[in-house]
Amino acid sequence: MKEDTYILGIESSCDETSASIVKNGREVLSNVINSQIKIHEQFGGVVPEIASRNHIEAISNVVSTALKEANIEMDKIDGIACTYGPGLVGALLVGVSYAKALSYALNKPLIGTNHIHGHIAANYITHQNLEPPFLCLIISGGHTHLVHIKSYTEFEILGKTRDDAVGEAFDKVARVIGLGYPGGPKVDNLAKEGKPTIELPKTHFDNLDFSFSGIKTAVINLHHKTPDLNKADLCASFEKVVTEELIENTLKAAKQLKIKKIALAGGVSANSYIRAQFIDLEKQGYQIFYPEPVLCTDNAAMIASAGYYQYLAGTRSDLSLNAVPNLSVWGR
Ligand code: KG4
Ligand code: ZN
Repeated sequence: MKEDTYILGIESSCDETSASIVKNGREVLSNVINSQIKIHEQFGGVVPEIASRNHIEAISNVVSTALKEANIEMDKIDGIACTYGPGLVGALLVGVSYAKALSYALNKPLIGTNHIHGHIAANYITHQNLEPPFLCLIISGGHTHLVHIKSYTEFEILGKTRDDAVGEAFDKVARVIGLGYPGGPKVDNLAKEGKPTIELPKTHFDNLDFSFSGIKTAVINLHHKTPDLNKADLCASFEKVVTEELIENTLKAAKQLKIKKIALAGGVSANSYIRAQFIDLEKQGYQIFYPEPVLCTDNAAMIASAGYYQYLAGTRSDLSLNAVPNLSVWGR
């Protein structure tokens, strides 16, 4: 009988220090997330240098807590998967250095893992039967990618943002209208009290690319020109137009590739309006997948899951592994 495989995942690409033990790529035994949101809140966004220092302070405890909560000894671990990009260089380096040290000291395989592959893999944890091929729309603070997941380790980018990531637009809109950081969940909540009655611009390209800087700027200008405009209506209108753009491109890709399985991933996929609109596509025969909220935003379980599939495919990193802040979906 096949032995179980246990992967230790380590994530430190932005403002969450996280470690997790995942069994066979799908079963989360622990997922410890130390969020720095409270620390960065006062600055209205993530301050890279402060993030790095806090990762250094937290990482050792986070990893040992993950092992303890999973009730597993380090020698039972089959491999160590760590995010090596994309992300903030100083933040990434903390996780990469820690994982390299562990791998060297314990003589365990090291698997440098792409953060975006992690977001995709979060779906494998929530949906135990989900298997490639499928389409995945990755919408987070740093990324907006429409990707064809051909196999567990083969990806093709079909479209991406030409400027701001969706989450970036949510955060900026929230900051300008005074909702604070991180803006996504705050816009999400306020939008529920409003109506999408305000007209905002939508961007179209001939291919499957996205653009969100136009709508972001339009909301900001509108707010400055008409400060007593109803903020809830503004949030609802913003969410509606953004969602339409996301759905249009996703459907175009689904039709082109004749794919009926669509997964959402990344922090913005926690948005209740976006989810509801995508779920509505089930009426048209699509199957919609999205991770549970805690697996949408940055966490190490998703890294351990993505790392597991790379481990099976034979990927091994050596001690020359370095942080790659602008790593692409393909891993180059
Ligand atoms: O995936 P993530 O944790 O980090 C990156 O890899 O970027 O995503 C963080 C982003 C932030 O922009 C945050 O505002 C957004 O996800 N976000 C949301 C919601 N929850 C988090 N955006 C819209 N609605 C939400 N409920
Ligand atoms: Zn992320």
